[in-house]
Amino acid sequence: MVSLQMLLSTLTFGFVATTVVGPISKDFKTWLNSYGYQDYNFDRSDIGASGSYGGRQTANEAISHRPIIFIHGNSDTAVASNSNFTGWSASISYFLQNGYTPAELYATTWGDNVLNHFALRTHDCETVQRLRKFFEAVLKYTNADVVDVISHSMGVTLARKVIKGGNLQGTDKNCSIGANLSNKVNVFIGIAGANYGLCLCNDIAAAMPEYLTCNTVNGFWSGRGNGNCTGFSPENIGQKIKYSEYLMDLNANPNLEGQKVYSMWSKADDLITNGCDVWGRSTALIPTSNDFVVFSNLTHMESKDSTVRTQFEFISKKSS
Ligand SMILES: *[C@@H]1O[C@H](CO)[C@@H](O)[C@H](O)[C@H]1NC(C)=O
Ligand SMILES: *[C@@H]1O[C@H](CO)[C@@H](O)[C@H](O)[C@H]1NC(C)=O
Ligand SMILES: *[C@@H]1O[C@H](CO)[C@@H](O)[C@H](O)[C@H]1NC(C)=O
Ligand SMILES: *[C@@H]1O[C@H](CO)[C@@H](O)[C@H](O)[C@H]1NC(C)=O
Ligand SMILES: *[C@@H]1O[C@H](CO)[C@@H](O)[C@H](O)[C@H]1NC(C)=O
Repeated sequence: MVSLQMLLSTLTFGFVATTVVGPISKDFKTWLNSYGYQDYNFDRSDIGASGSYGGRQTANEAISHRPIIFIHGNSDTAVASNSNFTGWSASISYFLQNGYTPAELYATTWGDNVLNHFALRTHDCETVQRLRKFFEAVLKYTNADVVDVISHSMGVTLARKVIKGGNLQGTDKNCSIGANLSNKVNVFIGIAGANYGLCLCNDIAAAMPEYLTCNTVNGFWSGRGNGNCTGFSPENIGQKIKYSEYLMDLNANPNLEGQKVYSMWSKADDLITNGCDVWGRSTALIPTSNDFVVFSNLTHMESKDSTVRTQFEFISKKSS
């Protein structure tokens, strides 16, 4: 089913990036305002130019590629806001250099971009419903039958829910996300997601409930089993470990994230740690994946910024 490629990061990043400047275009913003999306603040003017990206430069500009929607991770922004939060600048730059236009590449910031709020962000109704509206707006605005999606880190587990739809049980409230969008997504790429949670969340969830990001309902709790999450041993295989209800629900939901699903991660991920293994399996491997790529030597952010060629190849594979 899947092939394992161990690639060197240095082989995948060999171009000079052009500066990517947000926010969304005037044309897109005007369209959003006139189609009832003004309250969702998709341009994220509070963050400045890094808050969003995409849209036609002139009215009626043609769109020839399948549009791509990018969903960033916890604390990040749509495009680079500083050297730590690089957003989707590297990917957008690469796609622009390979024939895409800004009218075919879309991103909005979710969350407040305050670094020390990272531990407060969860897969909550407000975030998932807002991103769902963004998907709907891009589909309508571009008039596309289908889009491609590239997601990173917490953006992977947010975007998967946006597409799978259904009910969301949050720590704050419960809500419905709507019907699945499986047939509206062609290629789905999930980079360094924590689909089975994070081992570091297990102790935190018990000891520091204020770290909502790790909570057992809609956070990254990876569950308790016999032994230890990172030191998984063969005798634990087969044990039924209950982890975050949100993540269990996502992984059990049969709706596809796209017609082709690809996962990517790095054994040197400094945020997920432990080679991305959680209870003996890769937390970054989306269960519905058609294929995956494992890098040996990339940090959590480099897994997004230094793999643009692989992202492009996965998208183009299905395009042709
Ligand atoms: C990036 O993160 C490091 C480590 O947390 C911090 O020392 C540095 O000030 C940050 N840089 C910016 C531009 O925020
Ligand atoms: C959400 O649904 C769950 C399961 O039905 C329920 O236990 C919980 O109280 C609900 N939460 C809220 C905030 O209504
Ligand atoms: C997913 O959505 C499609 C199209 O709306 C629908 O036909 C299908 O029944 C849905 N699948 C599930 C499992 O909900
Ligand atoms: C879990 O296993 C890892 C790897 O074997 C080991 O380094 C670590 O100390 C263990 N942690 C606990 C809490 O036992
Ligand atoms: C990748 O490998 C190089 C050379 O071995 C090393 O200097 C660098 O620290 C490594 N980077 C990461 C993120 O592990």
